[in-house]
Amino acid sequence: MAENELIPVYIMGKRYEVPPSLTIMKAMEYAGYVLVRGVGCRGGFCGACATVYRVKGDERLRFGLACQTVVQPEMYLGQIPFFPAQHATYDLDELKPEPATLWKIYPELLRCLGCGTCTKACPQSLDVKGYMASAMRGDISAVANKSFDCIMCGLCAARCPAEESQYNIAILARRLHGKYLAPKPLHLVKRIAEIKEGKFVAAITELKSVDKETLKKRYAERDIEPE
Ligand code: SF4
Ligand code: SF4
Ligand code: FES
Repeated sequence: MAENELIPVYIMGKRYEVPPSLTIMKAMEYAGYVLVRGVGCRGGFCGACATVYRVKGDERLRFGLACQTVVQPEMYLGQIPFFPAQHATYDLDELKPEPATLWKIYPELLRCLGCGTCTKACPQSLDVKGYMASAMRGDISAVANKSFDCIMCGLCAARCPAEESQYNIAILARRLHGKYLAPKPLHLVKRIAEIKEGKFVAAITELKSVDKETLKKRYAERDIEPE
C-alpha cells in the first residue's frame, strides 16, 4: 500500500476512506464526526470509547478502545458509549468488608456461568472471569487486585449471557478493599495531618503571589525523580 493511500472503513454503516495510521477515534473525526459522547481522555484511561468492530471476511466480533485501536481496511465499526448495566447505590461507611456484602448488593453475581466471554471482550486484557470467580467466593481483595486496571468501559457487561455488571461489582470490591482491608499508607496519613496543621499554607500563599514567568521558571527547575 502506498504511504498516502486511504483505506475503506464503515462507521455506523456508512463507508469512508481514511488514512491507515489513524486510531478509530481519529478516523471518525477525519470522516467528519464531532464526538461529544464516547470520548474522554483520549489516552486509554477513561473507558468512554468502547468500540465493537468486525473486519470483512472474519466472523469474529472484536472489541477495543477507539482512542487506542488503529483502523484496518474493511473495518465495520460501532461504538458503545454507555452500557446501562446494573449499578447499586450504597453507603460505604455502613458496609462490612465481608463476602456477604458482595453477594447482598449484587446477588446476580452468583449466576455467573464461568463462560469467559467477558475476558475475551476486555480491552484491558483483564481476567474478568477470574475476578468474577473470586467475587463468587467472596474474596474481596482478590477481586480488587485482579480488577485494578479496569477502566469501566462496559464491554464485559455488554457480552455477558448472565447479565452481570462485572465492573460495578469490581469497583465495590476495590472500594471495600481500599477502605477496610488494604494496609494504611502511613506517609499519606502523615501528609494529611501536616496539611491540616497548616504546614504548607505559607509556601502556597507565596506561590500564589508570584508572576507567571517566575512560576514557569520554578517549574522548569523543579526537582524531578530520575527515570
Ligand atoms: S461473561 Fe458473564 S457469565 Fe460469562 S464468565 Fe463473564 S461474568 Fe460470568
Ligand atoms: S473489566 Fe469490563 S469494564 Fe473493565 S476494562 Fe475490562 S471490559 Fe471494560
Ligand atoms: S477516550 Fe478515554 S479510554 Fe478512549
